[in-house]
Amino acid sequence: MPEMLTLFIIYVHILSAFYWIGGNLLFFSFGLSMRHIFKDPSLIPGFRALGKTFRIGSWISVFLLIITGFVLLFKRWGGFNTDMIIKVSLFLFLLPLKILHDFFIAPKAAKEEPPGFYFKLTLFIARLNLFILLLILYFSIKFVR
Ligand code: HEM
Repeated sequence: MPEMLTLFIIYVHILSAFYWIGGNLLFFSFGLSMRHIFKDPSLIPGFRALGKTFRIGSWISVFLLIITGFVLLFKRWGGFNTDMIIKVSLFLFLLPLKILHDFFIAPKAAKEEPPGFYFKLTLFIARLNLFILLLILYFSIKFVR
């Protein structure tokens, strides 16, 4: 692949990872101040709107990560090694969890009044997702070094 194209694909890959991980970290911070958000009901619609926008953005970044990741893996690196097998396995484990969180549990939690079982489950799954993402980040860095 031409050098410029390779750099561009790496740039898109890392930018997508930043967006997804960064968004999750931001939501983690929100989670810590959730009690305040629910004490002031005027904040809830804004929080939900942010959640819906991030759901779209994060799926776009997942799509870009898969495309750019596999192009780089086969065109630049020539295939898998152990770190990449662990990274992609973690990613394959994370995807169904993200689907569960984004399309089933979080929408139920948003309708729960007052916040209860689904709210706690959403927080738990979101934190587990973030933890797995941080592991993926570790194996990504290890892979290229
Ligand atoms: C199907 C999924 C994925 C594949 C096949 C894949 C593949 C790759 C490859 C081949 C590289 C090396 C790039 C280079 O040529 O320098 C890379 C780097 C990287 N990947 Fe992925 N990736 C995937 C998903 C992810 C995910 C989900 C994340 C995190 C959210 C991620 C974060 C990163 C980061 C941060 C780097 C840069 C590491 C560094 O330069 O130190 N990747 N990935």
